[in-house]
Amino acid sequence: MRIKNILAFALSLGTLGAIAQTKDQITIKTDSPIAAIQPTMWGVFFEDINFGADGGIYAEMIKNRSFEFAKPLAGWRTAGKKISMGDLLVINRKQTNAANPRFLRVNVNNAKKGEAGIINEGFRGMGIKKGLEYEFTMMYNKLPAGMTIHLELTDEQKNVIGETSFKPSKTGSEWQKESVKFNATSTAQKANLTIWFEGTGQIDLDMISLFPKDTWKGRPQGMRADMIQMLADMKPGFIRFPGGCIVEGIDLENRYQWKKTIGPIEERQLIMNRWNTEFPHQNAPDYFQTFGLGFFEYFQLSEDIGAEPLPILNCGMACQFNTAEVVPLDQLDPYIQDAIDLIEFANGDVSTPWGKKRAEMGHAKPFNLKYLGVGNENWGPQYIERAKLFQTALKAAHPEVKLIFSSGTDPDSEGFRYLDKSLRSMNADVIDEHYYRSPEWFLSNANRYDNYDRNGSKVFAGEYAAHIPGNATGANKNVWGAALAEAAFMTGLERNAAVVNMASYAPLFANTDAWQWAPDLIWVDNLKVYGTPNYFVQKLFSSNKGTHVLSALTDSKVISGQDSVYASAVRDEKLKTIIIKVVNTSSVAKVKDIAFDGLQKLSKEVKVVTIEGKPAEKNSFDTPSVISPKESKAKITGKKMKVELAPHSFTLLNISYSK
Ligand code: AHR
Repeated sequence: MRIKNILAFALSLGTLGAIAQTKDQITIKTDSPIAAIQPTMWGVFFEDINFGADGGIYAEMIKNRSFEFAKPLAGWRTAGKKISMGDLLVINRKQTNAANPRFLRVNVNNAKKGEAGIINEGFRGMGIKKGLEYEFTMMYNKLPAGMTIHLELTDEQKNVIGETSFKPSKTGSEWQKESVKFNATSTAQKANLTIWFEGTGQIDLDMISLFPKDTWKGRPQGMRADMIQMLADMKPGFIRFPGGCIVEGIDLENRYQWKKTIGPIEERQLIMNRWNTEFPHQNAPDYFQTFGLGFFEYFQLSEDIGAEPLPILNCGMACQFNTAEVVPLDQLDPYIQDAIDLIEFANGDVSTPWGKKRAEMGHAKPFNLKYLGVGNENWGPQYIERAKLFQTALKAAHPEVKLIFSSGTDPDSEGFRYLDKSLRSMNADVIDEHYYRSPEWFLSNANRYDNYDRNGSKVFAGEYAAHIPGNATGANKNVWGAALAEAAFMTGLERNAAVVNMASYAPLFANTDAWQWAPDLIWVDNLKVYGTPNYFVQKLFSSNKGTHVLSALTDSKVISGQDSVYASAVRDEKLKTIIIKVVNTSSVAKVKDIAFDGLQKLSKEVKVVTIEGKPAEKNSFDTPSVISPKESKAKITGKKMKVELAPHSFTLLNISYSK
């Protein structure tokens, strides 16, 4: 991207022979905002898909720590010559502990270190960092006298890269918890942990856990800081959680139930992650939701990064692509009660039953929940019937909370129009639209909201991503051409902030060794993380959202594809800046005059941020910045500037003003 003032541009015309010249002028009406922009405008969508939570932001390194996976010893194997599978017994005490029924009994027979142990393979290995402290925790019962536990982290070549030993010391008839800390001596991408038993006798084990010290905000048993930092850097206006289809479940039994995700982690009842079996070509039989990361942690995370929490709850319907199970209308009350209780958990005084639970978890202050979603991608009259019951009950109990309802999966279909019409006639606060479509769809829908009713329900573009056609898989789908189409579309969302109050790309995270769905915004392995081109587009919009929309016009029309250019403009009344976003989707550079109509006192200097590249280019772990923002400066002369938009580029101009 090169920017020149008029004089410099005139002098350089001779060098710009290849540039398609147009007479077009983009006029920004700087002193007459057309709509307020909600602080929630740009947010993030978090779902435990692609190992997003377990094996992702939840920094637990032990897979199947409580032996509750369908195969109770998944992720575990024996080590040493004095132990075999026959020495391991999985005991199920379902009658007395429904939330955490299984534990492991290990039979140890006169073993020394290295002779009898169990190995955990982690989530496709464990990412271990040299010098970092790790905390091992286990619950145990029936401790044999004098037993010593030795821990060994080993790398891919079986070198020991961290070790410690301890003698569990707590005795009694109850389960005990004990922790030990040790440092790693080397870095490994796919380490394993071996627990060696020295002594003789039976030991019962449960909740075997290993966490790194460098978690987000240093919280014990917390989240992976590098992944969360990527979110914080986006300055998102909201975090939508926990999904996605996770909310619905394959069947109602498999749905997400927030009440089972709070309190002590050993009391949170694990379920199979529905993405475990969804796609045969991306099978993940070891994908479960332990809920170590639950609703309390999601609220806390939202607060940490200054985002509104936006939970989506099950509406009494399982995924309609799977079983399509529904709860009879006369049995919907428990589902509605879950929603009412959630509001109390988030906002209630500590004297209320659910507010008290929040306080017991360490957060007496309310989380100030303002939005709640009812259902994800549900459709048909069966959804509307249930949505109405939720709306009536929730509005009576909590009129202050804005309710978000789903408009299904297909934004161009008869089904969508039915839902949109029905929800609008219910005066739904917000309607959640989803679009996973081709880049061309995004370009041709950049004006989708130009004619939406300004006075009706607001829109939440709750899940979207441009999917390129063809055979690309995984991160190869996150190409610049797709991100650029999203940027063009987002100028349309921004221009229509009077209607569109929130938007989020989806899905958010993907583990390169364990993904189910692509493209995704951020790719991770056990040690590293990188932002896709799509990430940088989202981040630029989100961290430059402004407070008011300005009109940006060419030939008195909104700029939505004429001459392959898409543009929107905002003003930030707190920061006193004008921000213009311009996308050029063509393969030739474009030169545009930008005229500032209105405010008198504009700074002469313009901050320019540009992302450009070839449509097929992408980022990777080794080359994370191929497509990334570059900053430069430009000048305003009088009340005009000239801007040269590089081929396939997204340009952001930031201009200070004073009144
Ligand atoms: O983002 C991936 C999935 O796409 C979500 O879980 C679902 O809501 C949508 O179909």
